[in-house]
Amino acid sequence: VLPTLTGTDVTLRPATLDDVPRFGEIARTPEVWRRWGDVPASEFTADIEGDELEVFAIELGDRVVGMIQYSEEIDPRYRHASIDIFLAPQYQHRGLGPDAVRTLAAHLFESGHHRITIDPAADNAAAIAAYARVGFRPVGVMRRYERIPEDQWHDNLLMDLLTEELT
Ligand SMILES: CC(C)(COP(=O)(O)OP(=O)(O)OC[C@H]1O[C@@H](n2cnc3c(N)ncnc32)[C@H](O)[C@@H]1OP(=O)(O)O)[C@@H](O)C(=O)NCCC(=O)NCCS
Repeated sequence: VLPTLTGTDVTLRPATLDDVPRFGEIARTPEVWRRWGDVPASEFTADIEGDELEVFAIELGDRVVGMIQYSEEIDPRYRHASIDIFLAPQYQHRGLGPDAVRTLAAHLFESGHHRITIDPAADNAAAIAAYARVGFRPVGVMRRYERIPEDQWHDNLLMDLLTEELT
């Protein structure tokens, strides 16, 4: 059972199927679509119900302002977690993303992880700055890694964070 996690301003609440319409609404905004592409309701539903991802609604007060999720590599020789996030446009650029990522990272470290990765598009300067605020460091560019939102492959920046680097 996932816990509810309390950050400085945001709360991360385990997502339920009731969150799917709001997640879809946020994902269809141009600012988020540009980074996440088309995410059908069926994909959010499968992610919330399935075993591969743990999905949280990011709440500010009583408003769902975004989504944050993680996956885990469970092979003990490579064990680590990876995070993905989006915030509704009107809630971006005010520190809520770093708050959410920091809160989830702290939980993952407390759960026994020692390394967390995140992989923004190489041109996503706002995301890279936001993750650097939490302590993530650039590892290197993964070339032609992703084709979201459209069919054109682009580069992504692999960033990682070790336990003692969380700020
Ligand atoms: C990426 C995201 C989670 C970051 O969260 P946030 O709450 O907006 O992050 P911040 O408030 O720290 O603002 C982003 C940082 O980028 C800076 N910034 C804002 N707009 C920028 C831009 N267009 N170009 C470069 N830097 C920008 C801000 O000044 C801030 O930097 P700072 O450290 O100097 O304060 C959020 O913006 C988001 O959901 N974006 C859309 C979806 C997305 O890109 N998801 C991530 C995919 S990996």
